[in-house]
Amino acid sequence: MNLLVCGGAGFIGSNFIRYFLQKHTDCRVVNYDKLTYAGNLENLKDIEGDTRYSFAQGDICDLEKLNEVILAHKITDVINFAAETHVDRSIHGGCKDFVLTNTLGVQMILDAVRFNKLEKFVQVSTDEVYGALGLDEKREFTEDTQIAPNMPYAAAKAGGDLMCRAYFVTHKVPVVVTHCSNNYGPYQFPEKVIPFFIFKLLRGEKVPVYGDGLNVRDWIHVADHAAALDLLLHNGAAGEVYNIGSDNERNNLEITKLILKIMGKGEEMIEYVTDRPGHDRRYAIDALKIRSLGWAPTYPRDKFEHGLAETVEWYLNNKDWVEHIQQKKKNEMNKFQENLERSADKMQAAS
Ligand SMILES: NC(=O)c1ccc[n+]([C@@H]2O[C@H](COP(=O)([O-])OP(=O)(O)OC[C@H]3O[C@@H](n4cnc5c(N)ncnc54)[C@H](O)[C@@H]3O)[C@@H](O)[C@H]2O)c1
Repeated sequence: MNLLVCGGAGFIGSNFIRYFLQKHTDCRVVNYDKLTYAGNLENLKDIEGDTRYSFAQGDICDLEKLNEVILAHKITDVINFAAETHVDRSIHGGCKDFVLTNTLGVQMILDAVRFNKLEKFVQVSTDEVYGALGLDEKREFTEDTQIAPNMPYAAAKAGGDLMCRAYFVTHKVPVVVTHCSNNYGPYQFPEKVIPFFIFKLLRGEKVPVYGDGLNVRDWIHVADHAAALDLLLHNGAAGEVYNIGSDNERNNLEITKLILKIMGKGEEMIEYVTDRPGHDRRYAIDALKIRSLGWAPTYPRDKFEHGLAETVEWYLNNKDWVEHIQQKKKNEMNKFQENLERSADKMQAAS
């Protein structure tokens, strides 16, 4: 297989590439990434020299460039991780880029897959497209749960998912869509909660918990997500949707207290802050469909604390990566703030 991995320089994409190349010694990977603030080629430093791996910088919205790379590398299959992924940004910073990449970008890949007659396309999506569940209900998201996104990020992802459905029905494009729960593990950009908290505690700062901290997410180790995607790339049925999750529901306070415990800190380091608008209360995944294909998590619920401790240890042991990413985050936050102020000025001038 000659696999095009879109968005392979991000958190999950880079973990997937490492997993895939280790498992399939006869396959090649081309990592196609725009290198937004979230893309980081340092995530793949250890495999840079592997002759089966190459990198091409490009935007998934650029169909011409996608076609060029597909032809040049005799690509047979595609998996797409490329997305704008930070929910808070989609709420506070405007969401045009979310719609462009998460919806239009997916449609461009579908066109490329269709015109080049590729064998399989796996579109990596999220459980957030299903909206929210209540804390007291027993229900979990199944593949038949109605799509009902509550945030701009999730709505833009749902747009991409629906394009996949339409291209399968209309054009028979061999696409599989996945809905995975929250991931944790190495190489995650520190705007996301687990590395964000680890880095704050390392600096001796308190960690901010939204609202009452009781919002529930279903946490999965990124290595288990990578294995599930690899299975679907090979055995997933075209036109089907698969949920991916580890039956590991935890509320934010529980996660925070576990991180504090692992890092030897007390609960006085928790600071409760105003909840974010539209904060979904609970996500929970029914993953029976992918389990029936033979997948099971290597970090199930009873190994979560162990997986989290390994993750903390990874961040502690990779000081260079951490220092570089923190500098990158600082620059990025300054830029983000400047953009926010500029658009506020424009709105004021227009009113
Ligand atoms: N992180 C999670 O917990 C989680 C859970 C479920 C699903 N997902 C989905 O998995 C995928 C990967 O998530 P992640 O956390 O690794 O994201 P990430 O933000 O770490 O990485 C996204 C990558 O996409 C690249 N990218 C962004 N826009 C692009 C464009 N227009 N063209 C090409 N490349 C572009 C970025 O440079 C970056 O390398 C996303 O589609 C996300 O919706 C994530």
